[in-house]
Amino acid sequence: MTSDRNPIVAAFDAAAETYDSVTPVQREVAHALVFRAAEAVKKPPGAILDLGAGAGHVTGFALARWPEAEITALDAAPAMLRRLRAKFPNVATIARDARDLHDLPRYDLILSSMMLHWLDDPRAALMAWRGHLARNGKLCVATPVAGSLSQWREFLNASGMEDATWAFPPENFAEGLGARLEFSDFSAAYPDARAFLRGLKQAGARTPRPGARPTPAGAMRRLLAASPGPFRIGFRIAFLTLDADQPE
Ligand SMILES: C[S@@+](CC[C@H](N)C(=O)[O-])C[C@H]1O[C@@H](n2cnc3c(N)ncnc32)[C@H](O)[C@@H]1O
Repeated sequence: MTSDRNPIVAAFDAAAETYDSVTPVQREVAHALVFRAAEAVKKPPGAILDLGAGAGHVTGFALARWPEAEITALDAAPAMLRRLRAKFPNVATIARDARDLHDLPRYDLILSSMMLHWLDDPRAALMAWRGHLARNGKLCVATPVAGSLSQWREFLNASGMEDATWAFPPENFAEGLGARLEFSDFSAAYPDARAFLRGLKQAGARTPRPGARPTPAGAMRRLLAASPGPFRIGFRIAFLTLDADQPE
């Protein structure tokens, strides 16, 4: 699937130039993910795959941690990968849907940060990705779960408006897969709600939840104009680690 057929990916593709400057939480989560992965692997991984690599937050931290590793960054948004290559010219990139790894080799470490929740079936993706682990390989994933962006939902609900932002998986979405799971809370402060919404759009995270009716632009403008600052937003992040060939 290419970016022009998948609206989620098209939105990220269009935000490639601004993504880095508006994603402090994503950067922090990427750092925490690579830190956890380094604790999970027994020896330095030779081949690493970064799924939904975006502009390279995870790739950058992985490169710094394992400079000898062969790192491949995969994302369906070509403009994101162009940004990534501009920063890390020696990293191989693959522009394609992360649900389709069929012809790719096995990796010692597969990483993915802040992408799994955009997929229609996160459990199926985890199982498919685990199948691409080399012997003793590790799959380390960070994903926001239910409870993330709750301040924004409450802000809209208090004004009687429907929240159309993406729905996050429940905390137990990976139950039964044998994953080791840790939760951690992250947050970012904005001068006001308008700045938060602008940041979300500049990050490319603008695709509404299927079936939701986004607030009409005029009503949203009036609401934001009346919103007091500052505005703090929280993300509840699940860090999952799966081993190669674990029983389900
Ligand atoms: C929130 S960004 C995260 C980027 C990076 N991992 C980070 O932590 O900054 C989500 C990324 O997932 C990519 N993405 C979304 N759906 C995808 C899919 N089905 N296949 C491949 N990439 C996808 C988007 O293009 C975007 O670059």
